[in-house]
Amino acid sequence: MDARIILGLESSCDDTAAALIRARPGQPVAEILAARVEGQDALHAAFGGVVPEIAARAHAERLDRVTEAALRDAGLTLGAVDAIAVTAGPGLIGGVLSGVMFAKGLAAATGKPLYGVNHLAGHALTPRLTEPVAFPYLALLVSGGHCQFLIVEGPERFTRLGGTIDDAPGEAFDKIAKLLGLGQPGGPRVEAEARAGDPAAFDLPRPLLDRPGCDLSFSGLKTAVRRARDKRVAARGGITRAERADLCVSFQAAVAETLAEKTHRACAAFRGRHAVGTPVLAVAGGVAANGAIRAALRRVAEHEGFAWVAPPLALCTDNGAMIAFAAAEAMAARGPDALDLSARPRWPL
Ligand code: KG4
Ligand code: ZN
Repeated sequence: MDARIILGLESSCDDTAAALIRARPGQPVAEILAARVEGQDALHAAFGGVVPEIAARAHAERLDRVTEAALRDAGLTLGAVDAIAVTAGPGLIGGVLSGVMFAKGLAAATGKPLYGVNHLAGHALTPRLTEPVAFPYLALLVSGGHCQFLIVEGPERFTRLGGTIDDAPGEAFDKIAKLLGLGQPGGPRVEAEARAGDPAAFDLPRPLLDRPGCDLSFSGLKTAVRRARDKRVAARGGITRAERADLCVSFQAAVAETLAEKTHRACAAFRGRHAVGTPVLAVAGGVAANGAIRAALRRVAEHEGFAWVAPPLALCTDNGAMIAFAAAEAMAARGPDALDLSARPRWPL
């Protein structure tokens, strides 16, 4: 198939994103022509977390201008776009609906084909957006809402090897940032704070390591951090700057270590199913932006003989290009969605 220009729209959490890519359906490596992301940290800051109603309204207000800005950056008009792709779930339903309704409006007005994309598929396919990675490959998706090991077998074919049984690691980073008064977004703040800390200062648990398989758990770890902090506060009325850094780095090390151990197991499970010369381990999702976690996973890949693929940071967090690219992948296998495409709060791969 010839190259297509695809508009990708994302609004399933707290980023309003629009991107234009040029891709050959079914082929890896696309050209990103423009990519705009408007975050909402300032809108939710006072509440210590994303407020779904506020997020949905902000998406509805911003999708228009973010899309216009992306088209302007690319020097294109809507007429030059071959297809419109939008996150149709999973996510906060108000935000997903804002995006789906906006995309339907564009598709109805222009007659362009519409593709509803699974947000998780968008993250899981991102490695192919920038690198010539072949199917099947092993992907670890680690974000604020999700954590799972997937064998990516095709554009819309995934096998789940395991995942978190409670919180996602990004959610744990965000809650710990809140607990320690670091503000949001939690992940980058905890990572920055961790630089000054000693990872052996606090003895935090490594949940589920004693259990076979690739499942993970982060809620007990989060509670352990809270207890350690509360103990200091009860004894001395507060924690010092140095203790806060120690807690951040000890937590980050515990997350990195558990993810690394489960990644070893996922690599073995992948090898058990697929005889591939040099298999690929790819990471995606916002938590993959964390330097310590990235380094730990990279070491696992090297040790297991897997090629390591980590998309650039801007493509690890929520963005429109991954949604456009997932549609390009789907396009090789199927036609567009009908205009009655529904928004799905839950949509497992
Ligand atoms: O993929 P993403 O943009 O949104 C979804 O959850 O789908 O991921 C956002 C999550 C947030 O929880 C954020 O705190 C976390 O990724 N994150 C990080 C870092 N940067 C973002 N976590 C740890 N270290 C980071 N540097
Ligand atoms: Zn995401």
